[in-house]
Amino acid sequence: RTVAVVLAGGTGTRLGLGIPKQLLKIAGKPIIEHTLAVFEAAPEIDEIIVLMATGHVAEAQKIVDKAGFRKVTKVIEGGDTRNATTRVALDAVGEGDCNILFHDAVRPLLSGRIVRECVNALWTYSAVDVAIPSADTIIQVDENECITDIPVRATLRRGQTPQAFRSGTIREAYRRAEGDPNFAATDDCGVVLRYLPETPIKVIDGSDENIKVTHPVDVHLADKLFQLAAAKVPRLTDHRAYSEEVSGRTIVVFGG
Ligand code: CTP
Repeated sequence: RTVAVVLAGGTGTRLGLGIPKQLLKIAGKPIIEHTLAVFEAAPEIDEIIVLMATGHVAEAQKIVDKAGFRKVTKVIEGGDTRNATTRVALDAVGEGDCNILFHDAVRPLLSGRIVRECVNALWTYSAVDVAIPSADTIIQVDENECITDIPVRATLRRGQTPQAFRSGTIREAYRRAEGDPNFAATDDCGVVLRYLPETPIKVIDGSDENIKVTHPVDVHLADKLFQLAAAKVPRLTDHRAYSEEVSGRTIVVFGG
């Protein structure tokens, strides 16, 4: 059994809309509805659990009911932090071994290809992350905004979601984290890396389109990307090259 956990417990302070950003409509639908539709359509996913921001559970349930998503079994309240939301999700998934994919509700442009590759990788690995190379040089700074390090770019990736785990691995990592008073993490692979350091975490290719709607500019970008997808315009956004014949000329697109 493979469960997709859609993390929607945040309120989107950086976007500053006054409503949680996952409820913002892009291309005619709330962001979270686009995200849920990807998992609903993915043959690898058996069940979907939604963790929603406090005070907005009924709204999320309404979106699920209206869209008729049959795989969604629970729409419940998340926690105060992203990791607290993950803990609530782990309880909601229940006992028994399964695969769990944690995905940011605010990454509505997730592709079926990424879901499939995450689930396939769980045959070999018990923890899987999704990431893309960094086009920008990443610099490390101190409290005075002065550079302390410039890591070699070729070794760096930008982490996306889903993050996928066998249930035993993610439960054990969070069980160990519970005993640590200094626990701090912003994602779930970070919890496995820190508390189960012997576990290899496989990284699969993400996509430039799998953006996290975080700042106002991302709303414009996501809207444009949905338009291009609807018009089936080939896009230069993924990291595997293939050629495609388009209106008589060969163009190279990167995709899947
Ligand atoms: N998230 C969550 N529970 C929280 C905080 C965040 O499930 N307590 C989810 C968000 O809903 C989002 C994802 O984690 O889908 C990524 O987080 P982020 O982009 O930081 O979302 P927000 O916390 O809503 O945004 P901000 O940091 O700007 O307030």
